Amino acid sequence: NNLLLSVFSGLIGRSWAMVFAAGGFKVKLYDIAQQQLTSALENIRKQMKELEESGFLKGALTVEQQLALISVCTDLKAAVEGATFIQECTPENLELKKKIFSQLDLIVGDNVILSSSTSCLLPSKLFTGLKHVKQCIVSHPVNPPYFVPLVEIVPHPETHPSTIERTHALMKKIGQSPVKLNREIEGFVLNRLQYAVISEAWRLVGEGVMSPTDVDLVMSDGLGMRYAFIGPLETMHLNAEGISNYCERYREGMKLVLNTFGPVPEFSGETEQKINQAMSEKIPDVPKFLDARRKWRDECLTGLAKLKKEMKSD
Ligand code: NAI
Repeated sequence: NNLLLSVFSGLIGRSWAMVFAAGGFKVKLYDIAQQQLTSALENIRKQMKELEESGFLKGALTVEQQLALISVCTDLKAAVEGATFIQECTPENLELKKKIFSQLDLIVGDNVILSSSTSCLLPSKLFTGLKHVKQCIVSHPVNPPYFVPLVEIVPHPETHPSTIERTHALMKKIGQSPVKLNREIEGFVLNRLQYAVISEAWRLVGEGVMSPTDVDLVMSDGLGMRYAFIGPLETMHLNAEGISNYCERYREGMKLVLNTFGPVPEFSGETEQKINQAMSEKIPDVPKFLDARRKWRDECLTGLAKLKKEMKSD
């Protein structure tokens, strides 16, 4: 496959590089510092080897074949030469990203897609005024993208429909799970849903209804069990004789409960202390313990990804 992709080389950039290479695409990693690129390549090799050993390497190619697809470059112009898709993964800083996109705007042609990994900067803030705005889009991944396939595709109001379609098709092709937003909105969709859950969890602890660890169990051993396979809307459909029947049965009850929800929490003060204490007792907030727990989480996600593949029924 001769499609060339360019990505930037931090945590998310490296993951994208691995996902694209697993899909058989040539990837050029760009960064301002050679040292950053050297360590990115070492890290990618190490991760791929580990994945191969545990049987979780993606794609039809071997580690060496995938590594051979990835090259590095500290010159932006050379990095994007011939690329048809550029995935920007610089730190989450509006001014920095705007600078990068205005530089890219000057050197790219009319056929390349300029895509940003931003978690929360709106396309209208990032891309307005660019000559190539029709080719600009946000492709927001979830960490770690290698095991969590969702990608939120968020267009600028002036993004051309073909940019949306091509990005969607590319994400499908490399085995990710793209979803399209019809228009931009703060937090996109993943974080809006996540924040809805976080804020109610916070209020329940703040109001003394439940301990922090038990609230987490409600998700991990309750709701989360099915959310790994079906969403909230299909849950409604299956929990009654279809959506209309669910609404008929639970409409009033849901509204009653929802009307008891409190305001947006401050995420500070006593509740913060209480939650911090509970979480730190379980996992002390120092790198050694946090990293060990992240490693375990990623192993769980790996296993879940495998299970989901086995259970797949569209
Ligand atoms: P990171 O800090 O690991 O990587 C940033 C990279 O950008 C570094 O390699 C750095 O050397 C490079 N860089 C800095 N200034 C640069 C410049 N002027 N030109 C080129 N490269 C430059 O950050 P991370 O976590 O990979 O995040 C990147 C983007 O991905 C952010 O927009 C973030 O919001 C988004 N994202 C992050 C997720 C996460 O969980 N870490 C999840 C989803 C999206």
